[in-house]
Order: sequence, then C-alpha cells, then structure tokens
Amino acid sequence: MTNRCITTPIYYLNGDPHLGHVYTTVAADVLARYWRLAGARVKFLTGTDEHGQKVAQAAEEAGETPQVYTDRMSALFREMTDVVNATPDVFLRTTEERHHKSAQALWGKLVKAGHIYESTYKGWYAVRDEAYYEESEIVDGKAPTGAPVEWREEPSYFFRLSAWERPLLDYYEANPKAIAPLGRRNEILGFIKGGLRDLSISRTNFDWGVAVPGDPTHVMYVWIEALSYYLTCLGFPDEDSPDLKDFWPESIQLMGKDIIRFHAVYWPAFLMAADINPPKRIFSHGWWTHNGEKMSKSLGNVVNPFRLVDTYGVDSVRYFLMREIPFGGDGDYSEEGFVQRINSDLANDLGNLSQRVLTFIYKNAGAVIPTPDFLQSEDHEILAKAAHLHDKLRDDMEAQALQAYVQHIWEVISEANRYVDAQKPWSLNKSGTPEDKARMGTVLYVLAEVIRHAAIYVQPVMPDSAGKILDQLGQTDRTFESLKTPLKPGTKLSEPVPVFPRVEKM
Ligand code: MSP
Repeated sequence: MTNRCITTPIYYLNGDPHLGHVYTTVAADVLARYWRLAGARVKFLTGTDEHGQKVAQAAEEAGETPQVYTDRMSALFREMTDVVNATPDVFLRTTEERHHKSAQALWGKLVKAGHIYESTYKGWYAVRDEAYYEESEIVDGKAPTGAPVEWREEPSYFFRLSAWERPLLDYYEANPKAIAPLGRRNEILGFIKGGLRDLSISRTNFDWGVAVPGDPTHVMYVWIEALSYYLTCLGFPDEDSPDLKDFWPESIQLMGKDIIRFHAVYWPAFLMAADINPPKRIFSHGWWTHNGEKMSKSLGNVVNPFRLVDTYGVDSVRYFLMREIPFGGDGDYSEEGFVQRINSDLANDLGNLSQRVLTFIYKNAGAVIPTPDFLQSEDHEILAKAAHLHDKLRDDMEAQALQAYVQHIWEVISEANRYVDAQKPWSLNKSGTPEDKARMGTVLYVLAEVIRHAAIYVQPVMPDSAGKILDQLGQTDRTFESLKTPLKPGTKLSEPVPVFPRVEKM
C-alpha cells in the first residue's frame, strides 16, 4: 500500500478566508480524497499561521490581544475548511505547544550543526509579505510585490543560506520532479544561481512568536517557524514517530506561486542543514484574479467563499475551481463565467446524462439495471473508454494535473451523451419488438456502467453529488478497485432526482 502526505500552506490570520485560500485547500482535498479511494494511506495537513508581525498588527487593529484574535480567526479558517467539505487529517495552529516544541527543536538541530550565527541585520523588511528584501530589489521605495517596506537594524541570528547554493542545485538536478510546474523550477534554479545570501531568522522588535531557544529576547522569524509545521504534524521532534517515517518521504506540498521561494529555497536548505530530506515534491499553483483585477481588501473585491457555497452549493464551487484553469496556471473568476461553467458542464453534461438515463431505466426497465444482450462494437468502444480512465486519471493525479483529471472524465461523459442520441433507447422502447427490447437493455446497461465510472471518479472533486448519483444507481462499493468488477445487472435503482439543477447568477 502506498502512502501520501498532501499539504496546504498554513494561512495567515490577518484577514478573512477568501477564494485563494479555498483554492489551495480544495486542490489538496481532491488529491487526498483521490488517494484514499485508490487505497493509499493519506495524511492531509493544513492549519493556520498565527505568529509574526503581520498577525500581531491585525490583532492590534481589531483591538484584541493576539491570543483572542487568533482564536477567533483560526476558527473562521477551520469553518472555511468544513464549508468546502475538505477532510484534513490534521488542522494545526502554530500557537499550539507541540508546534513551539517542534520549531525550537529544528532550530536546535541547526545550531548544533553550526548553521546559525549571531550578527546584526540591516536592511528592508515588508511586514505584509513577512519577507526581507535586498536594496537592489526595492522599486520606487517598495518591495517588488508592491508591499511597503521598513528599514530594520537589529541584532539577529542568521542562517548560513549561502553555503547551500551548490547542495540545492545538486539536489534539484538529481530530482527533476521535485519542483513543478517546470516554469517554476526554472525560476527557482535561476534564483539560486543568482547567489544566496545568509538569511536573518530572528526578530527582536516584537514578541508574538516562538522564542529562540536560549535567547528569549528574540523570536524566530515567522517563516522558519511556520515551515516547521509540516514536520510538527507528523510528530517531529520525535524522529522515531511512525508518521514521520511513513509520510514525510511521500510529501506533496501545494502552495501559490507567491510563496514558492520560501518552500523551494529556504525550506529544503533548512532541512538539509538539519539532516532531514526535503519533501518529495513542491507544486506551485497560480493566482486567481476577480473580473481581471487582483483581489485585495483595499479594492473591496475579494471573493467570499462562504457566500459562493451558500448560493451555488459546495460541489459547484469545488468543480469550478478545479475545471476552470490548468493547475499551475493563473485564472480569472467572474460570476458570469462561474454560472456558465456550472450550467454547461454540470446541469447539461453530467446532470442530463445521469438524469435522463436513470429516469428512463426507472420508468421503462422496471427500476433495475438491465441484463445486457450482445455487445456491439460501439458498446465495446465506449466501455473501453470508461475502463481506460483508470490509468489516465492515475497519471493525472501523479502529476497533480487536476484540470486534466476533470477533462478526461468529461470526455467520456460527452461520448456517453452522443451514444444516447445515436442509440435512441426511447425508439427501441416504443417499437417494442423482442430484438429492440433486448437492444434497449444492452444500451441502458452500457450507459449505467459508464455513469458508474464517471460518478466514482468524480467523487474526489464533488463528493456529495457523486454520492447522490451512486445512491440512485444502487451502488454501495465506491472505490476505484470496485470498477474492476462489472456492474451487476438486477441492481435496484432508487428514484432518480436531479443532482445538478440549472443555476442563475444571484
Ligand atoms: N502563512 C503563509 C504560508 C506559510 S506555509 C508554511 C502564507 N499564507 S497566506 O494566507 O498568505 O497564503 C496562503 C495561500 O493562499 C498561498 O498558497 C497563496 O498562494 C494562496 N493565495 C492567496 N491569494 C490567492 C489568490 N488570489 N489566488 C490563488 N491563491 C492565492 O503565505
């Protein structure tokens, strides 16, 4: 049995959850659900990033203590996770004691191996990005991301990042799939080749963080602390923890393109310095804009996932996010585009197929899956297409090609809609000759079998809706393995009800 560890970044608590957060969480959930259905043991990790100056400032603006503020905001992110029907195995808050211990233990290992030294940091810092910038990166007095910067001069501990240029390049050369997509890998290699400077990893001008072991006048830089969350969830610092052994080598870390540098440069360098292998794969997805504009609190155009789910249903939101853009690319959200996508792919393609076929069987074939007669070439053809999905979809999931996963299922759904139109079961029913009745049974059997395949494979993306279709089809075994056994004739259907009603823009 294989193991998989799927992770999202942990979310900063400086604002409400929005579509960007939901995107990473849903993508990770689709992968986690897929691998569970494929029979793997899965650990799906997520949580909230609660320390640092940015969160401390947000608490102050809200007139609350950081603890009260983070308790409230973390609960909101937990709620978002539930609302989008995500199923993490661990939801970690970085304010938990076990995380403090883990982050401090990682620091301790770095000190012991001689990778940390004390000096003074002089340079620019952007609180919004929680990132340090070089003088050469400052554009018109701002960070390259547009974030305001402040000049800092403070005593600081440094991590000897400069020593990791060569080892990182060697590591990525030996592991060509460690960063995806390819464009991002090239970007990261270019950045490393441009030269790495030692990294300031502690702060002294505020105290909302994890104390540096042995020097409580410093708190750990929020990124070195936050990144250790991946290890905390698997039982670190207990290096004999079974989860660490089973799942760490199988880690697939998802994150947006804005934070890939932290994950693909700093993180593996910290890990290698602490004698821990880097995660197996880092996948960076793109960014969503809203009606062509960057989403931001100040523009007031942030897409609220709670309203979206409330209005259109959770599966519509999950489907849209996975289908609309290639995983790894950027995309635009507009409510018109959303509604159009849902109506065409869900109400028309999948909804129509399952509704018309199941209703037809219910009304005209005694509400049981018919027994097939002779299979003709067109029957074999469409059944083969459904059967081939198994390997195709597995390759998609191995590559985190989430949009391709959905598209491949929809190719078979479209094929099935064409098959219904060509085979005309209603005409066969009307003619009523024994030959036509037998042919009708075959056609309906083939269609029910294709719908079963589609619904079983759609489960990771739309668990509720796929479940309803499978309920109506009378199917209790829903694993991918179950598809190796042909659909059983005689299975009783329950009364079909439409699963994907047409929606209108609200
Ligand atoms: N706390 C850090 C991550 C630490 S991981 C050890 C952080 N948090 S965040 O809340 O700012 O961002 C979390 C995730 O949301 C990132 O993967 C980011 O790319 C994603 N998104 C935020 N806005 C987004 C869009 N508009 N579109 C797509 N994803 C976006 O960074």
